[in-house]
Amino acid sequence: MENTHLDILKPDDWHVHLREGHILSQVLPFTYDNFGSALIMPNLDKPIENISLAEDYYAEICRHIPKEIKFTPHMTLYLTNCLTQDEIKKVSNHRYIKAIKMYPRGATTNSESGISNIAEFYPLFEAMEKNKVILSIHGEVTDEKVDVFEREKVFIERVLTKIINNFPNLRIVLEHITSADAVKFIEKHKNIGATITNHHLMVNRNIMLSKGIRPDFYCAPILKTEYDRLALVQAAISGSDKFFLGTDSAPHVNGKKISACGCAGIFSSPLAVPLLIQLFEKHNSLDTIEKFMSKNGRGFYGLEQQQDRVLYVKRSRSVNTIKNIKTDAGKITVFNPYNELYWERIN
Ligand code: NCD
Ligand code: ZN
Repeated sequence: MENTHLDILKPDDWHVHLREGHILSQVLPFTYDNFGSALIMPNLDKPIENISLAEDYYAEICRHIPKEIKFTPHMTLYLTNCLTQDEIKKVSNHRYIKAIKMYPRGATTNSESGISNIAEFYPLFEAMEKNKVILSIHGEVTDEKVDVFEREKVFIERVLTKIINNFPNLRIVLEHITSADAVKFIEKHKNIGATITNHHLMVNRNIMLSKGIRPDFYCAPILKTEYDRLALVQAAISGSDKFFLGTDSAPHVNGKKISACGCAGIFSSPLAVPLLIQLFEKHNSLDTIEKFMSKNGRGFYGLEQQQDRVLYVKRSRSVNTIKNIKTDAGKITVFNPYNELYWERIN
């Protein structure tokens, strides 16, 4: 019989960009409504590179959460050479800072403060390994000689393999994986998990580029082939505890995306959950969706399981969906690659 109800533990988003100021106030409700908690990325214009800045940013986020809402922001620090071993030790006992995020310099939005020489950071990786602090990685090389579609693969070969060999007990999350190669690598190595986004599960580079260019599908790391997309879908629906949802919802106003030099980032938090339900349903895998969205990430980060539940129903006709949100600086398009969406939350 067709499944028309889905009652699951409230999902978490293990990778989200909330920005700051007015945009934060406009995008945050979609995260606290749909998710029980979220890991907030630190790539603000002024990077969140120490505990004090993370605490200020946390306070700013909390000011925008209404009292009756139960939502936990988990914070991250941006890895730069300002970080010290002492600070890492403090992170290990911190109530809500849960990871240190490594951006290769120039890989994506606000990555100018990212790292260029990995070996410089080995003493800090050693401190993270010792203090059980999770390293979250944007896994792409930025070498201009490497083709943009190969940058994740080359990062895994040239950089990630070295980190893993040198620090076998360091717990790592490879963020927003995009390729069959990445899936294989994660499956093969212990102490490493991966987030997967909606967009990498639902669209590919042909859809982005072959029938006119789709700036709303442009993100970093860039979308790969259909073969890669299907490998990601298999990983997500497999139930393996190594893979979990990180939407990488990354709002940019349309003026900045639809431009001669459009920026990377897809705003996906408003419809992320019902879109995923529809995808899992299509693959006859509604039985594993709770693991992917609500359990595996908490397991990896060592948090207790969620208590709250949410109920989604499948309508017989496609539902009306939000197309964009308005901000002071202009509209932001909401990611929805499906013509018809049937699932809707009712509690
Ligand atoms: C993100 C952003 O805009 O902050 N962009 C993106 O395309 N994913 C940064 C990131 O996670 O790479
Ligand atoms: Zn991101």
